[in-house]
Amino acid sequence: MTSNSFSSEFGTSSSHFEEDSVICIKQSSGLSGSVRVSGAKNSVLKIMAASLLAPGKYVINNVPHIADVRLMSNLLETMGASISHQEDEMRIDIPEEMTPVAPYELVERMRASIAVLGPLLARFGRAKVSVPGGDDFGHRPIDMHLKGLEELGVSFTNSHGYIEGQVEKLIGGKVLLSFPSVGATENLLMAAVLAEGKTLIENAAREPEIVDLVDFLNSMGAQVTGEGTSTIQVEGVDHLEPVEHTVIPDRIEAATYMSALGMTGGEILIEEARLDHMEMLVEKLNEMGIEINQVDSGVSVTVSKRLKSIDLATLPYPGVATDYKPFLVTLLSVADGVGIVTENIFAGRFRYVDELIRMGADIRAEGHHAVVRGVERLSGAPVRAPDIRAGAALVLAGLAAEGETLVGAASHIERGYQDLVGNLHSLGAEIGFVNPQKN
Ligand code: EPU
Repeated sequence: MTSNSFSSEFGTSSSHFEEDSVICIKQSSGLSGSVRVSGAKNSVLKIMAASLLAPGKYVINNVPHIADVRLMSNLLETMGASISHQEDEMRIDIPEEMTPVAPYELVERMRASIAVLGPLLARFGRAKVSVPGGDDFGHRPIDMHLKGLEELGVSFTNSHGYIEGQVEKLIGGKVLLSFPSVGATENLLMAAVLAEGKTLIENAAREPEIVDLVDFLNSMGAQVTGEGTSTIQVEGVDHLEPVEHTVIPDRIEAATYMSALGMTGGEILIEEARLDHMEMLVEKLNEMGIEINQVDSGVSVTVSKRLKSIDLATLPYPGVATDYKPFLVTLLSVADGVGIVTENIFAGRFRYVDELIRMGADIRAEGHHAVVRGVERLSGAPVRAPDIRAGAALVLAGLAAEGETLVGAASHIERGYQDLVGNLHSLGAEIGFVNPQKN
């Protein structure tokens, strides 16, 4: 069956991505052609939250059409913002008066909603935000966000599932994070930019998305230095101005296509991707046998033989990101040899392993570790996407599995990918949507 006849049978439009939608993948080989990565989800969401810091009209470019962006738009709109999103351009109009409340219905659907806490406190001196619960990665506390904001003078109360913060005037201070948390670093930054005096964030997260957020804040008039290092200094300013900004490319999406190629072999171009944001991953993929080079229009990737197993451990940036791990485990599941994978960020982030085992993978996961023994071939089976990245990894597994793989709960994938199915299809993969089956 060719990918074209497959597409006419199942369709590849992302409009099929609904609750309970299912992706069907058949074993595919020799991907070729080019694909363009979208703007980084984990940048866009925080930049949208940061727009709360100053009233007026913003233009944000390179914004993907994904479910999490729609949820963040809904959240800002419930507070009073007006938002339009055409092609990849988003326009945000932030009014003078707003309701600084993030309701349960939205926070429960997207943890990143917590990013509004810092900006709301900085701008209005008060915020009421539903406390995010645990999720598929397990227990995910926000204690570092709260402790850091308390250092800047905020007092919190917690009742009926909501955290309420109050502060007369934020005062800069020194915050030492016990772990370089991405979310805590961002919330603190977005509060500190309007605080009185100097703030020092030590053991700060160094991810490229933090640097993008700081670029956005500085263009608004903030005075932040040290971004991309573990010590960030913020000199508070009185007010900020709305701006136009272009979001960095999504390194996790780029890693998804690199890994897809590892499952199928072939040669592709990933347009817009930036290797300087993913150096450690590239080193690991090179070790496995994936050839990756920065070229003018993006990144070229070539795979010509079976991959070799390696050991790896996830770490905060610049280490191998936890978000890449489901792809790497999937690659190891068909590589030659045994790989030991250690997860240092989210202990519970091995749930998809049971699904890979259903497809014939030989993996033993316990606590923070997984031992992956490469098998010659996987075997297509019905599986469920537990979260965005693990869902995408199961799609990748399907590319190298004999027969047909059906990935259910595919709406998880749409939270982070504008068109994973369409893009893989355009590279020659046999992939499409099955009509959603409602139970
Ligand atoms: N942590 C605490 N207390 C806190 C905050 C974090 O104990 O107050 C712990 C977490 O439980 C975890 C570790 O610190 O063990 C790191 O969490 P971090 O705060 O860095 O993660 P996050 O900000 O909640 C972001 C991304 C995740 C990505 C992680 C790690 C967004 C919206 N999410 O989450 O991305 O895995 O950083 O890099 O930026 C995804 O895109 O699908 C995704 C889950």
